[in-house]
Amino acid sequence: MRVLATASAGTARLLAEECGDIGLRPRKVRAHGVELDLDWPEIARALIYLRTAQRVLVFLQQFPCGGGNSLYEGAAQVCWADWLDPGQRIAVAASGRLPSKAVRGDSPIRTHVFACQRVKDALCDQLRDATGERPSVDLDDPDVRIVARFSGDACSLWLDPAGAALHRRGYRVESGPAPLRETLAAAIVRASGWHGEQPLRDLLCGSGTVLIEAASAALGLAPGRDRTFAAERWRHRGHELAGQIATERRAAVDAAHAAIAKPKLDVRGLDIDPRVLRLAEANVQRAGLGRHIQLRAGDARHTSAPEPGSVLISNLPYGERLGGDEVTVLYAELGRHWAGFTGCEAHLLVGHDDFAPTFGLRWTDRMALTNGSLPVTLFLYELG
Ligand SMILES: C[S@@+](CC[C@H](N)C(=O)[O-])C[C@H]1O[C@@H](n2cnc3c(N)ncnc32)[C@H](O)[C@@H]1O
Repeated sequence: MRVLATASAGTARLLAEECGDIGLRPRKVRAHGVELDLDWPEIARALIYLRTAQRVLVFLQQFPCGGGNSLYEGAAQVCWADWLDPGQRIAVAASGRLPSKAVRGDSPIRTHVFACQRVKDALCDQLRDATGERPSVDLDDPDVRIVARFSGDACSLWLDPAGAALHRRGYRVESGPAPLRETLAAAIVRASGWHGEQPLRDLLCGSGTVLIEAASAALGLAPGRDRTFAAERWRHRGHELAGQIATERRAAVDAAHAAIAKPKLDVRGLDIDPRVLRLAEANVQRAGLGRHIQLRAGDARHTSAPEPGSVLISNLPYGERLGGDEVTVLYAELGRHWAGFTGCEAHLLVGHDDFAPTFGLRWTDRMALTNGSLPVTLFLYELG
């Protein structure tokens, strides 16, 4: 089957490497993700083990799309009864570049919401004509989630066997004010090259996402082992995926018990806000990583220097909450204090244009990424 594992901008190469690590060979690496040819057992493996993929999508159909009518007709070409019956709940999502004014001739698609409705109508009309019943819509917990991806004058339809996006691992029930997506945290940890040998520090750890993703990766804990997937409720084509997911999950849970009991990692987090730190503690416990991650309240502008050889990975405040001046003052103070750290690498994810000049140290590498819709940069500094 043709599969697309989607990645946030800038991380597709990391995702491709990760696919290779779990024995899935990428066919093509694109800006928005990795294309693969997978069978159902490999899809189950991807769902349970991939850390940096946002979604794993299974291809259904592609067609030229100028407007709402051609979208309806294209979506009606799929034999939906192969995949679901009207007693099941569906959700349709749409993304990408909608047909431009020049090509949308028939009936314009001005919004993704309208595009979703046209696909849903084609699906529901087809099943109603065949059975007299229509499936209901459940955006929060669908049995079958359909994704329409647009690229100007074409549309492709995909099934999303996960339902809820893959960053929903299950450990983060609550988070601080600007949490990092688990998948992006996993990508920056992978980009840092940290595998568990050196001490790891996040001195502005918020709800602990970077620490949890780093420790999970170092211990080889499968990120999907504690969650369920929509495909476990599929009844028609692909129904065998439920059993394959269950098999992978069982193996991953057993392996996690053994891995969590391994010698302790040296992973520590600091945050100035004790309230956020309580959330981080709860997340660490839910992730089963209480033995491996230590947290404490403190100020990253005054904390003692990490031991030489430490790797620092942090997602710094961007300024939405602190306000423009306050955040650049924080960057300058961090830069002055961290200039005294010796023999450490710092991987800093920031979304503020003035960060590098105000932090004031010389970066050795950088990577353009996006956090949600926000352009951000991952800077590498060699401290001391
Ligand atoms: C962008 S958030 C980090 C989010 C985190 N990666 C997560 O996923 O939840 C930045 C964090 O920096 C903390 N912070 C701000 N100033 C600090 C300082 N001087 N020392 C330590 N932490 C600080 C804030 O409390 C906040 O939790």
